[in-house]
Amino acid sequence: MARRRQLYEGKAKILFEGPEPGTVVQYFKDDATAGNGAKSGIITGKGVLNNRISEHLMLRLQEIGIPTHFIRRINMREQLVKEVEIIPLEVVVRNIAAGSIAKRFGIEEGTRLPRSIIEFYFKNDALGDPMASEDHIIAFGWAAPHELEEMTGMAMRVNDFLCGLFNGIGIQLVDFKLEFGRHWEGDDMSIVLADEISPDNCRLWDIQTSEKLDKDRFRRDLGSVKEAYQEVARRLGILPEA
Ligand code: C5P
Repeated sequence: MARRRQLYEGKAKILFEGPEPGTVVQYFKDDATAGNGAKSGIITGKGVLNNRISEHLMLRLQEIGIPTHFIRRINMREQLVKEVEIIPLEVVVRNIAAGSIAKRFGIEEGTRLPRSIIEFYFKNDALGDPMASEDHIIAFGWAAPHELEEMTGMAMRVNDFLCGLFNGIGIQLVDFKLEFGRHWEGDDMSIVLADEISPDNCRLWDIQTSEKLDKDRFRRDLGSVKEAYQEVARRLGILPEA
């Protein structure tokens, strides 16, 4: 494919101008960072796996009527997505206490939460993505009230569906992070699921052994990071050759 203009480079992905107006190419890198860039490394082959895993999950979600930015996978490391205006929020859904919620409230990791919990963080690297309340989001204009309601509803539906999907392959969906974007068609705007869904932004534990099959293996120096991502792809039935 012809050389394309780069629009943005993030920690794990690069966005290029797409072949048609209103499209963007999302390129998956092997780079991994943790602690807002405090730790970084390369996990060879991670980009290929996340491209495939995210494609698979976005397609399954589209099938149940969740609108997403995903159009099609182009090659091993790239996918074509709709151009959207990213809403500057990280929407985290949690089913089991782990990571920051366990630390913040002194809950033992692995404790099932009384119900699924949704949290919002303001996407801002310089500030370290601070947690934000619904009131902060509305008052500072990061999203309108109806957008927040829509994102919350979609996040809960995504959670219900993905919990079932992963449960069926022996994996517990502990928590995950979503991002949403505004997609414009003429004067019509709709909110769509954007970014990626992969072991980089989900916590996935084996139901039998509680083995971590996600980015915590990198964050906590547990080793076998690529093998864990491969295992998720294998169980999803999409292990790419390579
Ligand atoms: O660190 P914390 O426990 O708040 O993370 C909750 C979930 O959100 C985890 O699945 C983590 O992978 C994801 N996350 C993310 N990007 C961030 C922060 C958290 O994908 N910047």
